[in-house]
Amino acid sequence: MIVRDGVVGTLGNNPVRCITLGDDEGIRARILTLGAIVQSLELPGAGGSTTNVVLGYDTVDAYLKTGPYFGAVVGRYANRIAGGVFQLDGRAVELPCNNGPNHLHGGPDGFNRRIWTIDESRSIENQTASMTLVSDDGDQGYPGRLDVRVTYSLDGNNAIVIDYEATTDRPTIVNLSQHSYFNLAGEGSGSAMGHLLQMNAGAFTPVDEHLIPTGEIASVEDTPFDFRTPKPIDQDLRSAHPQLHIARGYDHNFVIDRPTNSPGQLIRVAHLLDPSSGRSLTVESTEPGIQFYSGNFLDGSDVGTSGQSYRQGDGIALETQHFPDSPNHPAFPSTILEPGDRYHSKTVWRFAWD
Ligand code: BGC
Repeated sequence: MIVRDGVVGTLGNNPVRCITLGDDEGIRARILTLGAIVQSLELPGAGGSTTNVVLGYDTVDAYLKTGPYFGAVVGRYANRIAGGVFQLDGRAVELPCNNGPNHLHGGPDGFNRRIWTIDESRSIENQTASMTLVSDDGDQGYPGRLDVRVTYSLDGNNAIVIDYEATTDRPTIVNLSQHSYFNLAGEGSGSAMGHLLQMNAGAFTPVDEHLIPTGEIASVEDTPFDFRTPKPIDQDLRSAHPQLHIARGYDHNFVIDRPTNSPGQLIRVAHLLDPSSGRSLTVESTEPGIQFYSGNFLDGSDVGTSGQSYRQGDGIALETQHFPDSPNHPAFPSTILEPGDRYHSKTVWRFAWD
């Protein structure tokens, strides 16, 4: 039986619940059944203190505004689909556009706005929260019913393991991701652009003016996009590279370096360190890509959990995923899910602190 902190809000007539994983000694994560949102993630410090290292809101209503997807599981397709159109089995599929001319993060009523059901049989008190969602045939324009599960587990070694699973009854596309924004100095403490970032990515996918990949897989060599050795995010953030200009900073999919013949293996992909506090996050994933978004569109209009407003660069999203707009780029790894197959994706956030 999983411990529930009870009802923390409503969506229509349906209650939104909160679950806490963890204890006073280690990581403590508050997770909402709305959007499978990680509302807060506290790391312990000296003298019993804790620091919340993710951006979020303190009310359910705030999450229901159109917003920056703080902490949510995004789907059915994380990231953008150009013009909200793609071909599947020779037929055009049309999706609603909710980001200028594009479809973003599953559409206007994506998985971040749904109430997920706690699966008691797969949940363990303080340790594992497993939640399911049924996305009907035609939901947000997508073909096929999709049965989705996300499971958050603490591994007992300062890590949160996120498992995504899905099955369908008709060919469809799936790309699930977690949209937490990290600030290892503490949520609401100001800019996170001094964090040191390292990513095992020798290439990235450049974008057009609507942040849609051009299709090119470009080397990071001699560009501001080279994070193969750790560097402060703000080191090259203001360089006059056209790609940084288009996105107002970093908002790009990086192509994770994988040993050949290892698609789908869990490997280390990124490392984030806050030099001021010594806190760090290592990201491991089975995914081929990671969207590094430097919080460019935060403009001070969102007030976070501790009552501070969030401005540009106050949080860093590291969204492990398949590449944006893959259904329109046959050369990118496929995001098609067929009936009888099982989508499984895993990402681990491993924290360290002094
Ligand atoms: C996208 C950004 C977008 C943000 C919030 C990120 O995943 O890459 O362009 O602004 O989500 O919607």
